[in-house]
Amino acid sequence: MELKNKKWTEEQFLEMRKHVLSTWRTGSDSELNFENAIEYLKKVPEEKNFAIKLAKAKANKSRTLVQPRAGVPVISSHIKLLHHLEESGADFLPSTIDSYTRQNRYVEAEKGIEESARENRAMLNGFPAVNHGVQGCRMVYESVGVPLQARHGTPDSRLLAEIIHASGWTSNEGGAISYNVPYAKSVSIEDTIKYWQYCDRLVGYYEEHGITINREPFGPLTGTLVPPSISNTIGIIEALLAAEQGVKNITVGYGMGGNIIQDVAAVRTLQEQTDEYLKKFGYNDVIVTTVFHQWMGGFPADEAEALGLISMSSTVAALSGATKMITKTPHESVGIPTKEANGIGIKASKMVTQLLQDQKFPECEQLKQEMDQIKKEVNCLMDWVFKVGDGDLAVGTVKAFELGLIDVPFAPSKFNAGLILPARDNDGCIRVLEFGKLGFSDEIKEFHRKKISERAEKEGRKVSFQLTVDDIYAVSNGHLIGRPTYND
Ligand code: 5AD
Repeated sequence: MELKNKKWTEEQFLEMRKHVLSTWRTGSDSELNFENAIEYLKKVPEEKNFAIKLAKAKANKSRTLVQPRAGVPVISSHIKLLHHLEESGADFLPSTIDSYTRQNRYVEAEKGIEESARENRAMLNGFPAVNHGVQGCRMVYESVGVPLQARHGTPDSRLLAEIIHASGWTSNEGGAISYNVPYAKSVSIEDTIKYWQYCDRLVGYYEEHGITINREPFGPLTGTLVPPSISNTIGIIEALLAAEQGVKNITVGYGMGGNIIQDVAAVRTLQEQTDEYLKKFGYNDVIVTTVFHQWMGGFPADEAEALGLISMSSTVAALSGATKMITKTPHESVGIPTKEANGIGIKASKMVTQLLQDQKFPECEQLKQEMDQIKKEVNCLMDWVFKVGDGDLAVGTVKAFELGLIDVPFAPSKFNAGLILPARDNDGCIRVLEFGKLGFSDEIKEFHRKKISERAEKEGRKVSFQLTVDDIYAVSNGHLIGRPTYND
């Protein structure tokens, strides 16, 4: 099929569906029959529907809701884990999918499940939802009291999406760029746009049958010094691609940068510009919410220090007015957390968002300037995408990456130019130090150069890659900016 940002016809979708369901044994489960799946999803109560709970939170201006990450291979242990997290106060639950499943390597995932059961410990780094099939995933759904979402990093998540949605999991994280460029080396963006058009068309199909399902582009990308305008642009592109396929409930995401004003500006502009672009292209009935990711870079090893960082992240999320926040745990620097550590992350985070539920970051000149700057940069990048795509968003996205007009720092994908280098300015805002072929105007580039020079001057050193390196390690060592010396 030719790549185009155009809603797939039902025939095209159902034809592809036959192929998708034939790629693994669980694809023939009778529960995947649409009649069966729709009947099951119609019985999902409102409080367990991800899309409805988010829409209500937005309408009621509720506090920022909290959601952890979590996944272990064996169903009974996974259910125990989710119960513990729900008891710790999670407003939404995840199932983090293991790396084999993310690579569609279901035979190895099967071995991992068997070994885990035999050795009585997790031999996979997540929950292999495809192998467990609809029956296993429905057991998980039926055992919890809040909405459930799959969180992963899968370039081709078509079968996974089929299985989780038919199981009552009413949200799927990911997108054509955000689950490709940071996660894969050699999957083309053209291919992942098609894979994710399928996932979105599946949600569109359910929407046509009266069932609302949430979709969440993965905002933080590589989680390392990503300038907000780059991640926001990608979030907006994925929201537009999803809306074209019939998705009606979208949560755009942002990974904490560390400067409070820039973070608040990023979340606010992400909400405003996603709404704006959706309206501009005629998608008038899409509900957009936001998700703030607690610090995604290197964490301090000390658990108390980690909780300090988690609490700061929660403060910024609450003040920014994000609808939802993804929590970290005091075990972050070590690996996959125990359920107890995961619960502690949720409790610390929720305490902060509750305390701050009636406070928002006030309007001020600095915030306005930062918001204007992000909007200008996003518009500049979006203009390029439509220009090089001759008006087609899907084609333009592929070309913009090919040409390096959109470039994600530190991404493994060979379909990403990888020429830009970010660094912090003197206030800790993330700016661009090396532009590569990034589609910024001269005026925007000048602003970034000036901001980074101010910092280098303050530190008495030249602008160089060393700033970037120092910034990457700074937070895990207890500072936001990687300065040569601190006067405290
Ligand atoms: N359980 C809990 N957290 C997980 N992460 C990855 N897999 C799991 C899992 N199975 C977390 C990492 C990191 C983030 C990207 O996802 O610890 O915080």
